[in-house]
Amino acid sequence: MVEITTLSELTIDGKLSLGRSASSKDLFLYSTDELKAWFHTQRAANDAIMVGANTVRVDDPELTVRHVQGRNPLRVIPSSDGRLPPDCTLMNDGVPTLVAVSERATPEALAILESRDHIEVVVCGRDQVDLQALMALLDARGIRTMIAEGGSELLSSLFKADLVSRIIIKHIPVIAGAPDAPTYLNGTSMSLSRWRLEDWFIKGGIGVSVYRPLDA
Ligand SMILES: NC(=O)c1ccc[n+]([C@@H]2O[C@H](COP(=O)([O-])OP(=O)(O)OC[C@H]3O[C@@H](n4cnc5c(N)ncnc54)[C@H](OP(=O)(O)O)[C@@H]3O)[C@@H](O)[C@H]2O)c1
Repeated sequence: MVEITTLSELTIDGKLSLGRSASSKDLFLYSTDELKAWFHTQRAANDAIMVGANTVRVDDPELTVRHVQGRNPLRVIPSSDGRLPPDCTLMNDGVPTLVAVSERATPEALAILESRDHIEVVVCGRDQVDLQALMALLDARGIRTMIAEGGSELLSSLFKADLVSRIIIKHIPVIAGAPDAPTYLNGTSMSLSRWRLEDWFIKGGIGVSVYRPLDA
């Protein structure tokens, strides 16, 4: 099965961004070049990288390796209805990307995705993308490791489905102070899970912690 590492930037008050519809790119202002280089080394070391469709809508991310030399991981975007902004970077930069949709994706949304040569569409799940089925499909294609960067909804689904092997958190030293900014997890209930601190260090002045499941 694909080994999934979640890798997120979190403020002191547990937020993934500084406001409700704010891009998490704003947190880069409080990052450092050394941390960015380390972060992109993690991307380059993985076969695939995944963010939820809302992160594509809000952040318009590149999800490529830029701050160090290295290969780009395959970009994987679960989007149940297949609605990604036609003008976003992922749709237009030619970097190989797999968009996983559910059976409720509309023909119009599929037509836009399929009009891009670098985008492959796979159908996994009825109403929502079935992440377990998606991982089985990726595993069959030789994808062994994946970084999942967020946001809250995707991370919550991954934890609920027990698909996460490692958690990495970059502790950004700011308090967002915005009550409606997205939190690490989205508040849906899930069972208690215990994690073991495997490593922690300071990279470019920012704390980084790494967790594994307690029993791993
Ligand atoms: N600080 C960080 O490290 C970091 C990293 C990434 C993102 N963020 C922030 O996180 C926020 C976005 O988070 P979010 O919770 O709104 O959205 P999200 O987790 O990025 O995306 C959720 C969307 O993914 C699609 N999806 C398809 N199948 C899914 C499944 N099985 N489980 C979950 N989602 C599925 C759905 O979109 P459809 O409507 O297409 O079905 C769903 O609404 C932004 O503010 C962004 O800046 C922060």
